[in-house]
Amino acid sequence: MLRIAPSILSADFAALGAEIDRVRLEADWLHVDVMDGHFVPNLTIGPPVVAAIRRHTDAYLDCHLMMSNPGKYLEAFAAAGANHCSVHVEIDDTAALIKTMRGLGLGVGLAVNPETPFEACEPWLARIDQVLVMSVHPGFGGQQFLEEAIPKVARAFELAQRDGLTLSIEVDGGLDVDTVGRVAEAGADTFVAGSAIFGHPDPAAAARAIRDAAAAAVAKAR
Ligand code: DX5
Ligand code: ZN
Repeated sequence: MLRIAPSILSADFAALGAEIDRVRLEADWLHVDVMDGHFVPNLTIGPPVVAAIRRHTDAYLDCHLMMSNPGKYLEAFAAAGANHCSVHVEIDDTAALIKTMRGLGLGVGLAVNPETPFEACEPWLARIDQVLVMSVHPGFGGQQFLEEAIPKVARAFELAQRDGLTLSIEVDGGLDVDTVGRVAEAGADTFVAGSAIFGHPDPAAAARAIRDAAAAAVAKAR
């Protein structure tokens, strides 16, 4: 199953509800980028905004926590209505964070930055639901896709097959109709796109086009 996760980072925050409505029918998940101004050099949104989104939509909320200390806020995100949270492998404390997310009933994701070797994620794959491979340096939307994501996706896919894991592979950053095929072919199933969707005059059509490009690449590869 392929999933499209529009990233609201590129939406108009002053009209967030309407922006979500514009993509809702094509959005399997909604990707919510949480930035703390410390782990990444930018600040975005937190639990109160997630709660407001939850009051507006029943969409599956995929919260990407670009934070140095997500453990302090996991309970607040769960209470706000997050369905899934991803924490970064670079901050350590992974075992405790996975345990806390499980205890809160959240989907459990582990994110990995472009400069971090995929080996950092390997010990955790059997305990998580999803690995989030960053294909840009986190912090900002609208950056160019970084190729180094592709071998990481392939490695995650290979290990999941080898060990019989039900592991979802999400890719985040620089995805559009031209780049999504490469990561779909390598084994990714969940595709985050911000600027390619919300920067398009018809965001739902843009999401559908990305889904079609991913599906075409998978059909060709398998
Ligand atoms: C970057 C964020 C991404 C971002 C992707 O730090 O994690 O989710 O919204 O935006 P695009 O699709 O524009 O690269
Ligand atoms: Zn993200």
